[in-house]
Amino acid sequence: MTATARLPIVILISGRGSNLESIINCAASGALEVDIRAVISNRPAAAGLRIAEAAGIPVEVIDHTSYVERMAFERALQVRIDTCQPGLVVLAGFMRLLTAGFVAHYHGRMVNIHPSLLPALPGLDTHRRALQAGLTEHGASVHFVTAEMDGGPVLLQARVPVRNDETPDTLAGRVLEQEHRMYPLAIQWFVDGRIFLDENGHISFDGNPLTQPKDLATENPLPC
Ligand code: GRF
Repeated sequence: MTATARLPIVILISGRGSNLESIINCAASGALEVDIRAVISNRPAAAGLRIAEAAGIPVEVIDHTSYVERMAFERALQVRIDTCQPGLVVLAGFMRLLTAGFVAHYHGRMVNIHPSLLPALPGLDTHRRALQAGLTEHGASVHFVTAEMDGGPVLLQARVPVRNDETPDTLAGRVLEQEHRMYPLAIQWFVDGRIFLDENGHISFDGNPLTQPKDLATENPLPC
């Protein structure tokens, strides 16, 4: 695929940017056929902005604290995203709740990665909560974004066994390793036109209904 045929994407971040970095690296290697048109952060201090800049990707800050109204923030965000005409909007540690109207505008073309095996443990602090709940298995999910926080249809999961001597930090590190393998793969599925979300919120994969999320253990991560 030539550079011009790459799927245009926009990535939204709020912080560290390690998932962003894995996407950038996979795109640079050629394994992930996307054109990252912009990286947008709602936080000016997000470390991920420096990662994007170093890779020569246009960055923008749309600081939510500058907007009194959530809707005004979202309008500004939507204008900036749509200027890039992305085929997919990728949330990578983007920490703002999005309203139903905003989300509907990107129906089927906005995804998020969340550090748990959804529907278990939506929300924050998932690794500590997984240990507190005594779970023996934890992981991460890539899902379509809907108005329900971390509640959209899940397309891909990676499972991580919880060890006896686990701390929230060790567990977070092992889950994050899987996130960095799974997100580029899920995005490439969009590039290849393999995944589709219908109006009723049902996913199809290669033209067949996806009744269970794909499991990274039975997929081939991209070579990057
Ligand atoms: C990741 O754990 C992701 O699953 C969650 O936020 C974290 C972002 O980390 N949504 P990073 O900014 O990609 O390093």
